[in-house]
Amino acid sequence: MSTFGAAAIPALELGEPLATREATAEGDVVLSVRDLCVSFPSDEGRVRAVSNLSYDARLGRTLAIVGESGSGKSVSSMSVLGLHNPDRTFMSGSILLEGEEIVGAPQERLQRLRSAKVAMVFQDPQSSLHPFYRIGNQIAEAYRAHHPVSRSLAAARAVEMLDLVGIPNPQRRARSYPHEFSGGMRQRAMIALALVNNPKLLIADEPTTALDVTVQAQILDLLKELQREFGSAVVLITHDLAVVAEVSDDILVMYAGRAVERGSARDVLADPLHPYTWGLVQSLPSASEQLEHLRAVRGVPPSLVHLPTGCSFHPRCDFRDQVPGNACVTDLPELLPAPGSVARLTRCHLPDPRGSLRGQALR
Ligand SMILES: Nc1ncnc2c1ncn2[C@@H]1O[C@H](COP(=O)(O)OP(=O)(O)O)[C@@H](O)[C@H]1O
Ligand SMILES: [Mg+2]
Repeated sequence: MSTFGAAAIPALELGEPLATREATAEGDVVLSVRDLCVSFPSDEGRVRAVSNLSYDARLGRTLAIVGESGSGKSVSSMSVLGLHNPDRTFMSGSILLEGEEIVGAPQERLQRLRSAKVAMVFQDPQSSLHPFYRIGNQIAEAYRAHHPVSRSLAAARAVEMLDLVGIPNPQRRARSYPHEFSGGMRQRAMIALALVNNPKLLIADEPTTALDVTVQAQILDLLKELQREFGSAVVLITHDLAVVAEVSDDILVMYAGRAVERGSARDVLADPLHPYTWGLVQSLPSASEQLEHLRAVRGVPPSLVHLPTGCSFHPRCDFRDQVPGNACVTDLPELLPAPGSVARLTRCHLPDPRGSLRGQALR
């Protein structure tokens, strides 16, 4: 468990409402990623896990990063935390966490920034919760690392957090060990641990993937509720578009290490502009029920060592014959505002994406 002396976050008094951030701060950019490239050496060549990725995460908003397994979602978020071994990672671009640069920062500064401002929830609670310590003690110690309070006050704070994340009998359950909790309860406890220091940024990487569908929905509801209460910026990483539909404000779709589409969740889900996003939306049960045939994105993701030329998606794209010339195979499209909507970005050569994608849906 981390031990950090300085209380970089204003101390919360027990009993004080948890929503301590000014309403006016809503929308402030906490995390600003620009032109991030991350690659790793391998025997086959360089693995280009993330290429030219840019996005902002804002207080009070949830940004979902969506894409198939291996598209670079986790690598991009681990980079935000500075968790890659610098000797075996090539990294360029900029990651500003409240104005402080992460790329190239020395380890001590990274550790300080991380512990003061960012919390992470993973698919596997085992990675955050220590098996040999009582859950309440783990949360209390994390709190004491940042707040000069007595053990008993910190213990009370832990119980309060367990209560907040919906653990029944929190006073008693605080004395349990992780193995005594069900999967869903462990996930709740990990969220309590992540939020106890009121982080500005919460990164949740596939937080519900290991859970059954009913528990998934409960955890997502909880995340949404807590986000309202804490006002943090949330980056939610998932391969499951159904998950993001529930809880996100904004969506960034990644394919083969690149952002291919960005926009508000409502717009992207209702009106996808990139053929890959369109394929993902079509594979959602509610959308496909209205179609005669269930569609999924055919084919498999490309190797990140030998990326296709031009648009990385072109080998799987059903629309490239609608692009004049051979541009999809020869030229990488830029991520640009879509025709008629500056708030929507798409990386595609199609001159009229709406016309092309809707035409296909009617076939
Ligand atoms: N430390 C590493 N060394 C080499 N390759 C890595 C490393 N971490 C991730 N990768 C590769 O980077 C790619 C993207 O991985 P990841 O971000 O974990 O995907 P996902 O979108 O499923 O979260 C994968 O091909 C993975 O094998
Ligand atoms: Mg991942």
